[in-house]
Amino acid sequence: MHRAFLAACALTASAATAAEPPVVPRPLTLVTMKEGPLRLSASLPVVAPASDPGAQRAAQWLVQLVERSHKVKLRVVPEASGRAIRFKRMDDSSLGEEGYRLTAWSGMAVVSAKDDAGLVHGATTLWQLVATGKGGLAVPPVDIVDMPRFRWRGILLDSARHYQSPEFLHAFIDWMAVHKLNVLHWHLTDDQAWRLEIRKYPRLTQVGAWRVPAGAARDDIDNATGKPRLYGGYYSQETVRALVRHAAERGITVVPEIEMPGHATAAAVAYPELAAAPIAGGAVPADWGVYPNVYSLEEPTFAFIEDVLDEVMALFPSRFIHVGGDEVERGQWLDSPRGKARMVELGIDDPARLQPYFTQRIGRFLHARGRRLVGWDEILEPGLPVASVVMSWRGTEGAVKAAKLGFDTVLAAHPTLYFDNRQSALRSEPPGRARVVSLEDVYAFEPMPAGLSREESAHVLGLQGNLWTEHIRTEERLASMAFPRAAAIAELGWSPPERRGFSDFRSRLDALMRHYGSLGLAAAARMDESRRKPATAAAALVRTSHELRLCSDNISLGLEDDAPPRGTRAVFVVDIQNPCWIYPAVALDKLTAVEATVGQVPFNFQIGEEVKKIRFATPTTPAGELEVRLDTCEGDLLARLPLAPAARSHGVTTLPRSPLARRSGVHDLCLRFAQHGVDPLWTLDTVRLLERAP
Ligand code: ACM
Repeated sequence: MHRAFLAACALTASAATAAEPPVVPRPLTLVTMKEGPLRLSASLPVVAPASDPGAQRAAQWLVQLVERSHKVKLRVVPEASGRAIRFKRMDDSSLGEEGYRLTAWSGMAVVSAKDDAGLVHGATTLWQLVATGKGGLAVPPVDIVDMPRFRWRGILLDSARHYQSPEFLHAFIDWMAVHKLNVLHWHLTDDQAWRLEIRKYPRLTQVGAWRVPAGAARDDIDNATGKPRLYGGYYSQETVRALVRHAAERGITVVPEIEMPGHATAAAVAYPELAAAPIAGGAVPADWGVYPNVYSLEEPTFAFIEDVLDEVMALFPSRFIHVGGDEVERGQWLDSPRGKARMVELGIDDPARLQPYFTQRIGRFLHARGRRLVGWDEILEPGLPVASVVMSWRGTEGAVKAAKLGFDTVLAAHPTLYFDNRQSALRSEPPGRARVVSLEDVYAFEPMPAGLSREESAHVLGLQGNLWTEHIRTEERLASMAFPRAAAIAELGWSPPERRGFSDFRSRLDALMRHYGSLGLAAAARMDESRRKPATAAAALVRTSHELRLCSDNISLGLEDDAPPRGTRAVFVVDIQNPCWIYPAVALDKLTAVEATVGQVPFNFQIGEEVKKIRFATPTTPAGELEVRLDTCEGDLLARLPLAPAARSHGVTTLPRSPLARRSGVHDLCLRFAQHGVDPLWTLDTVRLLERAP
């Protein structure tokens, strides 16, 4: 019946005129047929053979999705005749890995695939067709043959800088699966935390998973202990096993990342003997940025890392094991007598060979155990074992270089694939890096770098979006920073260029997003309105920091206030190296006063020597002032608002209204802080220009 049906479809398909039903990512081929749809109801069986656990899991996934979206409970049975949804194995070599075929008409829907992931993807497509269709609970008549363009369609989730609950991670895996994303790159260790239970080294999580938060939150004392409330959490091995199993059932590989030899502070605080140099303060730090702390190059350190990786490999079946390798500072290796002696022992006379020695040794350890080392693009140095995978984050050059040298590579390029960047300039935008990377910006990224030969391009495994969480404190915000941009990653990784176009994607995505709520996914709302002009003249004279232009773009953040410890906090857009804003094109004739709301945040940033370059205007009072200047920051001083009334407040403070020197015409205004030092960092929240004097 199936074969006969397909033959019939081939005849009717060419006459089909219906618009293509919306599926994200867009399938490789989709033909709509002149047939009736398959109507779903609780009595329609979902058939998956008892002998095929993969087919059963895919069938159950479909059942779960339909139940969530439509509150109708289908049931899975091992066999049934007549109308049904059927999951089947197909040994068709024309479908690559993860490929599937889905055919549906009034009498049946059939999902067939070679591998388990293909069956899951087929179930996902079937659910999307039901969810986005206009004809009630029904599958439209289609014939889909589908497979991914790339094998690595990932999201990096940083659970070190901020911790997410296992419940959230299970939900996140389902949201990924709904988009056929297939790699969860799980960033588990960093300077600010070690989150993975390692049985042989319990202090990694007993000590390394907990930190005193920065700023006002640091002063939040736990009455039970009389000490600051610690921030943190970790994942037990049991929790990890359950997550990895759940991910596998959804066709997702969890690739763990254990950072080395830098980004190692939390581990070094837990086990100081591993560190190349003593850790300042002796506590897990709460600053963001790049620390100088590295593992030592001693034999016991390698023994520790191999022990850790043995437990990691037992937990994660992934062939790929990520060992970081980014932003490593060599100073601690070079500056101590022991470090110098170790270089001699190792026969290394070029300091640039130290990190390659470390990484390549770990690479050989992993490869001897059938795994493949993955590292950030800094690992691309002579001697790198050929099975290593280079993750290109400093733009796409690392990927091009790697592919030309014969290494597999994954695109995770800053800034477009960095999902800690804001999605819009709306004031409702959660904290993050201040650069705006919209859904459309992500969609416009082409994963295959230009200039690669056919053979070289085969080394491009795919791409991923990176959710670094320094500034993403809550799960709710994480979800909205991830989605819908992750849907763009999914389509870039799955659909070939000729099947892509932003406006078509946007409309298919809108249809899918109507069902995000039923999956518990609160994605970022449409951001189009950020380009709209203020509705009234009065509104035009009020600007939040989100809506002003920054004077510079060194380290520009949407930075959350540190107070109150619990409850809603303000978010400021500020270049932490230059707290200064431009209010463009203001009609000054009628304006006589200015009012500003300001906040102060702890300067908890590791920026090395850069901190010495931060310059402030000279203040005239002990607490400093906010200055308003004409045209540029060197222009005439129009107002000076003393910060004294805000000096003792951890939260935001509205400063008393101040006169604004009269000027005529349309001018830019510069708003900047005059202050004595960098900590606390003053920042603008809102500025109001007024026609009435104080
Ligand atoms: C990175 O963003 N340091 C990989």
